[in-house]
Amino acid sequence: MTAPQRWAWADVDLDAIASNVASFCDLVAPSQVWAVVKANGYGHGAVPVATAALLGGAHGLAVALAGEGVELRRAGIDAPVLVLSEQPDDSAAALVEHRLISTVYSRGGVDALVGAGAAGLDVHVKVDTGMQRVGVQPESLADVVAAVRDAAPALRLGGVFTHLPIADEPDDPFTADQLRRFDDLRTGLDLDDDVLVHSANSAGALAHPAARHDLVRLGIAMYGIAPSAELAEQTAALTTPALSLRSRVSFVKRVAVGSRISYGLRHRFDLPATVATLPIGYADGVPRRRYEVGGSVLIGGRRRPIVGVVTMDQLMVSCGDDDVAIGDEAVLIGRQGDEHITAEEWGASLGTIGYEIVCGIGARVPRVYHRNPE
Ligand SMILES: Cc1ncc(COP(=O)(O)O)c(C=O)c1O
Repeated sequence: MTAPQRWAWADVDLDAIASNVASFCDLVAPSQVWAVVKANGYGHGAVPVATAALLGGAHGLAVALAGEGVELRRAGIDAPVLVLSEQPDDSAAALVEHRLISTVYSRGGVDALVGAGAAGLDVHVKVDTGMQRVGVQPESLADVVAAVRDAAPALRLGGVFTHLPIADEPDDPFTADQLRRFDDLRTGLDLDDDVLVHSANSAGALAHPAARHDLVRLGIAMYGIAPSAELAEQTAALTTPALSLRSRVSFVKRVAVGSRISYGLRHRFDLPATVATLPIGYADGVPRRRYEVGGSVLIGGRRRPIVGVVTMDQLMVSCGDDDVAIGDEAVLIGRQGDEHITAEEWGASLGTIGYEIVCGIGARVPRVYHRNPE
């Protein structure tokens, strides 16, 4: 028996993912592209996105958690998978069993992998050159690299990397300075030619050619979403958004002047209006505040303002005096006719970024995958 389908879903265009990756492969060649599919592929679905990214030319994949890597392996994905941070010691066995390239930045991280029976496991050493999140401090980098080398043949030094905190603000001089410091550090390590050096996220790949090194870790831009407003034009020129969030009208009514609507009765109608209800709410990733910040959805190719606070499972929009019927399609993110609402627009209105919007699309929203039949 197939599960009942909801009238709220996310369409994911896998051809867009593949072609976005291919555009980046061209842009950064001869550097490789590794597709970042953590957090369920930024809400798009890790396994389908990973498969599409590899078709588009990605050499490898990256995830945040050992469990995310295991999910890829269980789906039959055999490509290199890098886990971007050290994992709890009790994940070491899974990293080893599933041949997940492991990030280390401490002797404890090295020991856990050796203790779990690693035999020729690739590890990448992460050095903190400015993000101040995780990574070995520069002055101890050589020690951790030496610990990995000493752990041969259990471990093999496969890479050395760092992360850029402000590459999405291309005019800020911090990134160029950080890249110089990273270059000095890795030059001092006397690395073999096959050790992969990397630093760039999407913004680094776009705005800082010096950050491309051997590979770029391509996240947000692979999904057709810009890392920042400064990089919107460049991202749009290279990519297409892959995800649309859609719903269908589940209820329609006419309201009178003076009517108030939704929890707290915060919205009052100054004119009579036709109100459509959509069966999608904050449990699906539409923030309650989308009303307060003037959010709208597309119905009939036009923007329809959200009226009243978004509830857990449903929200209401005003269609003025236009005809609207139960079953009509509404677009919350994506294109309808000549109108377009982006994840970046949601982010800007809510004081956040497109990343948080797509990652926040709830697990109960079915993802519907589209690809060309060939
Ligand atoms: C270490 C690391 N590399 C690469 C990425 C990809 O970044 P972006 O999505 O900005 O391309 C991330 C994402 O947060 C990350 O944490």
